[in-house]
Amino acid sequence: MEREIQPARRVAGTISLPGDKSISHRYALLAALAEGRSTIANYSSGADCASTLGCLGALGVRYRRDGAAVTIDGGGLEGLRPAAAALDAGNSGTTMRLLSGILAGQPFETAIGGDASLSRRPMQRIIRPLERMGATIRAREGGLPPLVVRGGALRPIRYELPVASAQVKTAVLFAGLFADGVTTAVEPAPTRNHSEIALRQFGAAVTVEGNAVAVSGKPRLQAQTLRAPADLSSAAFFLAAALMLPESDLRIEGVGLNPTRTAVLDVLQRMGGRITTRCKAAAGEASGSLAVQGGGRLLGGEIAGEITAATIDELPLLAVLGAVSREGLGIRDAAELRVKESDRIAATAENLRRMGVRVTTSADGMDIAGNSRLRGAALDSFGDHRIAMAFTVAALAAEGPSRMANAEAAAVSFPEFYGLLDRLTA
Ligand code: S3P
Repeated sequence: MEREIQPARRVAGTISLPGDKSISHRYALLAALAEGRSTIANYSSGADCASTLGCLGALGVRYRRDGAAVTIDGGGLEGLRPAAAALDAGNSGTTMRLLSGILAGQPFETAIGGDASLSRRPMQRIIRPLERMGATIRAREGGLPPLVVRGGALRPIRYELPVASAQVKTAVLFAGLFADGVTTAVEPAPTRNHSEIALRQFGAAVTVEGNAVAVSGKPRLQAQTLRAPADLSSAAFFLAAALMLPESDLRIEGVGLNPTRTAVLDVLQRMGGRITTRCKAAAGEASGSLAVQGGGRLLGGEIAGEITAATIDELPLLAVLGAVSREGLGIRDAAELRVKESDRIAATAENLRRMGVRVTTSADGMDIAGNSRLRGAALDSFGDHRIAMAFTVAALAAEGPSRMANAEAAAVSFPEFYGLLDRLTA
């Protein structure tokens, strides 16, 4: 589907947003392993989190979905049943990687595949530690999906992650639930800690020491009543739109403000963005409201090292802001962007160039010239939800109308995106 995008003067109003994608996946998966009926409010509306529920259903888990409310009847750690056919993770790398951790602990074999984009994403990173724990995993050449996971009796390991990846950390910790003893994942840089929080919420014993996260195996997980806060990575598209459109005045309520996710807010504020945060202290996941005003001049700079890891999902969007910033933006240490739902370095550079921005790329980053005037253009999501949304925001701030090819990709994480945007720009 192609969408036409007209330039806008503002985004204004007060909104709340669907639940966080990362948190929704974890709540659903752990609810399936818990004993009793869990309810999750504000469950992510994205196709990715529907893929997780679909896979759980195929493994014999009974769930009910009524809009954003999901109830899941967990059968305990031994409650899953062999699936009749291969599981379909759709576009969702998170579903495949996190669920593989759980499948590694099952006394049966499960095949899991996905769409063309997912079939190009590296799985060696989870195969290696899960096989060390005792599972056997077949993949296509190069460790690509589909996977066939033969679970077994797992042993606990201490695993040093070669890449900063919350998905790999979580696959190891979730497999650790099925091992006797303590399983530890050591991260090279801090990544989102939703799994650690969710595991504790469901009753597992988790300890964190520096960059090492450990879980004790064979817990009895208890069903929970939980609410996923609004997805900050989705909110970021509206924050960026507000910063680029001078007359903007926007408030977003109930947003997830877990400190391992808020680096994007720090970066936006450092760029001169007028954003105020009101965080409500709470057990579990932090949340609060965000207020943002447009009109300021944005400053550029560099994103590197741990900040790159902590803003990994927002980098295409930050690249767009970099183009209209005073100094331009350099992004370093971002090789992981090459293996997301698309090659996000290539997709971002291509769309920026179509809008008239000068960009140079390298294997693990890019340099975006500042002070650019964005030209309306024929843009492409390349089937990647975050590229669709980042460049829709760019198109709002461009001179002249743009067209976005494959705009429907946005529904992978945020089906309401275009409807909300129409409302806020009206
Ligand atoms: C996610 C972790 C990140 C992120 C993805 C969701 C998660 O991936 O890009 O959108 O929910 O754990 P990596 O763990 O591969 O960095």
